[in-house]
Amino acid sequence: LKLGVLASGSGSNFEAIMTAIERSELRAKVNVLICNNSGAQVIERAIQWGVPTALLNHREFESRTALDEAIVKTLIEHDVDWVIMAGWMRRVTLHLINAFTGRLLNIHPSLLPSFPGLHAVQQALDAGVAIAGCTVHHVELEIDSGPIIMQAAVPVIANDTEKSLQSRIQVQEHCIYPVAIALAAHRYAQKQQ
Ligand code: GRF
Repeated sequence: LKLGVLASGSGSNFEAIMTAIERSELRAKVNVLICNNSGAQVIERAIQWGVPTALLNHREFESRTALDEAIVKTLIEHDVDWVIMAGWMRRVTLHLINAFTGRLLNIHPSLLPSFPGLHAVQQALDAGVAIAGCTVHHVELEIDSGPIIMQAAVPVIANDTEKSLQSRIQVQEHCIYPVAIALAAHRYAQKQQ
């Protein structure tokens, strides 16, 4: 699999994907890391792994579609066939979705369809749930929607804060994302036959 990763932040999921590839748990290569935020830690991680990086600052584009056009162009230039959103904090348009139909994935820190959108972990705490978790899903236009590929659950424990619950969820994100990529790719290949 030739992956392009879209990330805006710390990049711990990017790191987990790179580690899974290095250990041959995921047969893939990350051809490019696209980031919209010049200060993001994920850029340093990509440099350390020797992954080409592209900085596409959304503020320099006049619309969401213009940003997504630049993203698609960059992905094609790097011969990407699967797009992995790993903490990508921009809403995507049909331009990106249609360019990679069935091959555009996202990870979200809740058990979707509960708690889509921002501050999902705090939303779960506020709702008083006993079980939280994370979801890898296909990307559709509506935020954090689309067919679910894989989920992992974690318990909410007494005195959990957003931070403590988030870090328990992230351990599971790092486990399931590489597996979910392989599973989605396997199913996609079967459908093409
Ligand atoms: C993850 O919690 C993911 O679920 C959400 O953004 C966060 C990204 O974390 N979409 P990281 O940048 O991979 O550390």
